Amino acid sequence: MNILYFLVTIFISVKYIYSQNNTSEESEECIYLNKLLNKESSYNCCRNEKITCLNSHITRIKIYFQSQSYCGSIPFELGNLSNLEFLYFYGDNIIGPIPPELGKLTSLVYLFIQGKYINGTIPTELGNLSKLENLSLPNNIFKGSIPSSLWNLTKLKELVLSNNKLSGFIPPELGNLLNLESLKIQDNNFSGNIPPELGNLSNLKILEINGNNFNGTIPPELGNLSNLEILDLSGNNLTGSIPPELGKLTKLKSLYLSRNNLSGSIPKEIKKLNTKLYISNNPLLETESNNNSVISILIIIALFLILATGITIAYKKTKKKIVEEEISSRNKNKISFGSKNHPPVCIT
Ligand SMILES: *[C@@H]1O[C@H](CO)[C@@H](O)[C@H](O)[C@H]1NC(C)=O
Ligand SMILES: *[C@@H]1O[C@H](CO)[C@@H](O)[C@H](O)[C@H]1NC(C)=O
Ligand SMILES: *[C@@H]1O[C@H](CO)[C@@H](O)[C@H](O)[C@H]1NC(C)=O
Ligand SMILES: *[C@@H]1O[C@H](CO)[C@@H](O)[C@H](O)[C@H]1NC(C)=O
Ligand SMILES: *[C@@H]1O[C@H](CO)[C@@H](O)[C@H](O)[C@H]1NC(C)=O
Ligand SMILES: *[C@@H]1O[C@H](CO)[C@@H](O)[C@H](O)[C@H]1NC(C)=O
Ligand SMILES: *[C@@H]1O[C@H](CO)[C@@H](O)[C@H](O)[C@H]1NC(C)=O
Ligand SMILES: *[C@@H]1O[C@H](CO)[C@@H](O)[C@H](O)[C@H]1NC(C)=O
Ligand SMILES: *[C@@H]1O[C@H](CO)[C@@H](O)[C@H](O)[C@H]1NC(C)=O
Ligand SMILES: *[C@@H]1O[C@H](CO)[C@@H](O)[C@H](O)[C@H]1NC(C)=O
Ligand SMILES: *[C@@H]1O[C@H](CO)[C@@H](O)[C@H](O)[C@H]1NC(C)=O
Ligand SMILES: *[C@@H]1O[C@H](CO)[C@@H](O)[C@H](O)[C@H]1NC(C)=O
Repeated sequence: MNILYFLVTIFISVKYIYSQNNTSEESEECIYLNKLLNKESSYNCCRNEKITCLNSHITRIKIYFQSQSYCGSIPFELGNLSNLEFLYFYGDNIIGPIPPELGKLTSLVYLFIQGKYINGTIPTELGNLSKLENLSLPNNIFKGSIPSSLWNLTKLKELVLSNNKLSGFIPPELGNLLNLESLKIQDNNFSGNIPPELGNLSNLKILEINGNNFNGTIPPELGNLSNLEILDLSGNNLTGSIPPELGKLTKLKSLYLSRNNLSGSIPKEIKKLNTKLYISNNPLLETESNNNSVISILIIIALFLILATGITIAYKKTKKKIVEEEISSRNKNKISFGSKNHPPVCIT
């Protein structure tokens, strides 16, 4: 009994020790965050569920502002959190640009910023965040082009810039981002050609560049993206024919090509894929439905011809029979052709 009591006590103590997480930790860095969190300056932000601290440093911030809880700009002092690895920042009442000071957060692995009044340009300084794996800046009102420094972020797995007002060309340097799994830059105003170097990004699973102003042809190199699952090129100004190389994309689940100026017909290699294909609103494209309607018209004509021939033959046969019957009845007295039941009998 004593031993059991002893074991239970040890079990409870060990459990208690392990459940002591480091929420009691404090960080001087809280001074940069407490205004944002709407707390007094002495508040220990490491206790807040939105913040994670380690060894007296803030390492994670996940802030989702309800409509009226914070109104202001993204504080540039966040750039002082040199151990920050994860920053998620969402707020519809946040106004103004991304402070260039965020380029000092060189431990950052994940950066998400979204707010319908966040504007300005994407700071060149973000190109210094060399550990960055996920960069998501969707649904803001950023203008200008993607700073060329971003093509140095070779650890990037996910780049999301969708639904902004970005413009300019996508340079061949995009091909540097060999770890990219997801590229979503849809619903902006990017123009120029789709760089063939995109075909080098062999880890890519999602490529969404729809709703821009890309022109020129679809590069056949996209057929090298053997892991691609979603390819959305719709709503651009793409011309030329659909490259049959896209038929190599055996993992593709959806292929969106609608609302372009594509021509030619759909390559048989693509029809063979087990892929949902969206091709509407390409006036010059010979689509399957056109082919189908041509085929169905042909079938209808053929059926009509067969029917007509059938009727004609049947009519002729009937006429012949009637004529024969008339002859037979006229000759009844002389010759009986008889019927199936009776063998012909010659009347002498
Ligand atoms: C830390 O402890 C608090 C209360 O003791 C608990 O609510 C919280 O979930 C714990 N956090 C982790 C990461 O264990
Ligand atoms: C608490 O933090 C210290 C370092 O500050 C660390 O060594 C220790 O493992 C942490 N304890 C828990 C339960 O996470
Ligand atoms: C925090 O950052 C600002 C601007 O980047 C800088 O002026 C200030 O000296 C920094 N403060 C500390 C304590 O590092
Ligand atoms: C960003 O939005 C604010 C508020 O609407 C405006 O005052 C400011 O001029 C805008 N900045 C840019 C660079 O567009
Ligand atoms: C950060 O980037 C800016 C502009 O791209 C550059 O001028 C600056 O030297 C970089 N800072 C560091 C510390 O690398
Ligand atoms: C990319 O990184 C290299 C080496 O770190 C540097 O020399 C170059 O200036 C960077 N390019 C841009 C556009 O920031
Ligand atoms: C980062 O991006 C990768 C690739 O798209 C994705 O699998 C992963 O879930 C993302 N991480 C986070 C924390 O969102
Ligand atoms: C998009 O960019 C083109 C130039 O490539 C420009 O003429 C057009 O006005 C832009 N559209 C919008 C909505 O900004
Ligand atoms: C990337 O693709 C381009 C054009 O498709 C090709 O010329 C180049 O050699 C490729 N670069 C690498 C590093 O594979
Ligand atoms: C694509 O658009 C650019 C301007 O944005 C133009 O210079 C170029 O000639 C166009 N290319 C094609 C093939 O239409
Ligand atoms: C990529 O595709 C192009 C054109 O379809 C082809 O010539 C090239 O050899 C491919 N490159 C690789 C690395 O598969
Ligand atoms: C698409 O490109 C053609 C020329 O290639 C041009 O005449 C037309 O204005 C472009 N359409 C749009 C919406 O940019």
